[in-house]
Amino acid sequence: MRVGYYQFDCVFGEVKRNLDQVSQALSNVSADLLVLPEFLSSGYQFISKQEVLDLAEPVPDGPTTQRLMEIARARNMVLVGGLAERARDHVYNSAVAVGPNGLIGCYRKTHLFFEETLFFAPGDTGFHVWDIGQARIGVMVCFDWFYPEAARTLALKGADILCHPSNLVLPYCPDGMVTRCLENRVFSITANRIGAEERGGKKSLTFIGSSEVVTPCGQVLERALRDKEALAVVEIDPAEARKKSLNPYNDLLADRRPALYQAS
Ligand code: ACM
Repeated sequence: MRVGYYQFDCVFGEVKRNLDQVSQALSNVSADLLVLPEFLSSGYQFISKQEVLDLAEPVPDGPTTQRLMEIARARNMVLVGGLAERARDHVYNSAVAVGPNGLIGCYRKTHLFFEETLFFAPGDTGFHVWDIGQARIGVMVCFDWFYPEAARTLALKGADILCHPSNLVLPYCPDGMVTRCLENRVFSITANRIGAEERGGKKSLTFIGSSEVVTPCGQVLERALRDKEALAVVEIDPAEARKKSLNPYNDLLADRRPALYQAS
């Protein structure tokens, strides 16, 4: 199975321009699954609720999901990428998975980061695993990585590959995902963006790139640079994620002791 990421610098508010850039970058790519960043078409640093409302889109009828479905159909691949989603009275920091036949699913970010908490509702979808034929994929968004429960829940639900659209600003995640993969024996694909935003007099945010593909044994198969656009595709065998036996005496998930994990 050929999987990868596209890391780029998007321009705040320029939805069509950003989507054109993705279309152009993917126009010759051959892959089965490609992950794109969080908020791939809108940009990250929202400064008002109105701005969020103006840029948020319905799923699947908004321009971002529609364009991703068009690309997925044309390139015969599955794409996972993030967008601001508008649904009735709420806006969510969401990620969609789309394939040649259209929308596969939509995940709403559970753990909002920093000022996202001012503008977005915490996700209400929970964590889901979707069978895309060659593998079972689960989606988590950026800061969800800081909560091991997110990756664990997806692993317990049978995910082979964690698809992880991101707009990372802290330095810890690329190495942190190695642990998430090891402790769950899953693959991960983190797609981060590059560039910086400094809007409305707010603190400048620099996105750390370093998108990566990690194996269930914690090997980093590809890691992009911090500040360069990058498209990477690597060959993996998703069946490696289904071997949860560590040795003749230890099975990673079967050996869990949930009764002893109660905090109260
Ligand atoms: C993040 O969750 N965008 C850091």
